[in-house]
Amino acid sequence: MWGGRFALGPSEALDALNRSLPVDHRLWPQDVAASKAWVHALCHAGVVTPSEEAQLLGGLDRVADKLADGAAVGAPDEDVHTLVERLLYAEVGAVAGKLHTGRSRNDQVATDLRLWTLNAIDELDSGVTALGRALVTRATDGLDAILPGYTHGQRAQPVRWAYVLLAHAWPLVRDRQRLADARRRTAEMPLGSGALAGSGFPVDRVLLKEALGFRMISANALDATGDRDFVADVLFAIALVGTHLSRLGSELITYASGEYAFITLADAFSTGSSLMPQKRNPDVFELARGKAGRVLGDLVALLTTLKGIPAGYQKDLQEDKALLFDACDTLATVLPAVTGAIDTLTVNAERMAGAFDPAMRATDLADLLVEAGVPFRESHGLIGRLVRAAEQAGVTLDKVPAKVATEIHPALGPALAQLGSWEQSVESRATPGGASRASVESQIDELRRAFQPAASS
Ligand code: ARG
Repeated sequence: MWGGRFALGPSEALDALNRSLPVDHRLWPQDVAASKAWVHALCHAGVVTPSEEAQLLGGLDRVADKLADGAAVGAPDEDVHTLVERLLYAEVGAVAGKLHTGRSRNDQVATDLRLWTLNAIDELDSGVTALGRALVTRATDGLDAILPGYTHGQRAQPVRWAYVLLAHAWPLVRDRQRLADARRRTAEMPLGSGALAGSGFPVDRVLLKEALGFRMISANALDATGDRDFVADVLFAIALVGTHLSRLGSELITYASGEYAFITLADAFSTGSSLMPQKRNPDVFELARGKAGRVLGDLVALLTTLKGIPAGYQKDLQEDKALLFDACDTLATVLPAVTGAIDTLTVNAERMAGAFDPAMRATDLADLLVEAGVPFRESHGLIGRLVRAAEQAGVTLDKVPAKVATEIHPALGPALAQLGSWEQSVESRATPGGASRASVESQIDELRRAFQPAASS
């Protein structure tokens, strides 16, 4: 299609490097849709006649049928755009040559990829939403189970299981916001930009944008043909979803271990070992964690590609699709598996309760001393001494003899006697956003609303 000025075709080696059809064939539905809109705009501009328009539109529909039947498989073409055009020639003959009037593959590929990305964002959003809902559902049945909350891998303060699950649901709310934001910027239409300087024919870009469902038209053709910020936006949103899945996975791998045994994965979401018959492995979460590295790599690869190139289209940009497709495909496999694992895991509430260490009441004791009038810094130091006394006596914090406690501070004996249950300890942190029952319940309400399906934009 660009061979006129060359005496010979490209070498096999160049062809192998240059061809993008093995990657971009999946853009064919977008390429056909954008081509149909383009034909319509050309007719509107008086570049093709209504009868040519009808021929071209009918031909493109038949091309779509052929592609749906697998015509792209093993096709020799350079890319999806040349493939569609060749198939159109086969359908309608010479009039097919009018399709590319005033258009370039530069504005065409940018348009196709944006259309594809809009759809991909919606699918990602559904996957993220489904996981969010699964976490919220499991949180509603995890209000009563209390377990140690950890920081630095150390038992810190008691929290509700529901609260831990919600701590992994809130990041997904932010992910949805990021995807929605990326969607807004993706919905700008480059078509009509030509190769870099605009189209030589008076096509109505506003009409085109309406026909293709874009929000607005791009403002500068040179920018629009070389702009892949939308790909970077989506890859960043994906890298962060991946990061969130990785953190969730990492935590649950620990809880599924024999030492913790806070949760048990369902058979359908566990894997065995080929050697050790006893193993029930959390591969699902390990893969979620592992794949986060891969999607982060996709983002870094794209940014590295973009940073070196001037405005406008450069062939470097052809790399965008492999990266974007890889990241989207990766999340499309990870999200449903993680969602299923969350849906079906069993919670072992007794194991959670069995993991408590009375030392986790240290903050409660310090707070009780504060209520008795001791400044917090001082009470922190006093409880520190109590912890040391317990360690020296080889007893747990609640079993330090009252005499020893009272020697440290007169209010400590009564404070120790006043310590309530673990449940009361959790309830004592009742600030909005805390781990108390009321706070967790109101978070559940909010998150239920946040994980409604997206209002289509
Ligand atoms: N296959 C190319 C890509 O994916 C399409 C655009 C080619 N444009 C060009 N001037 N060679 O980026």
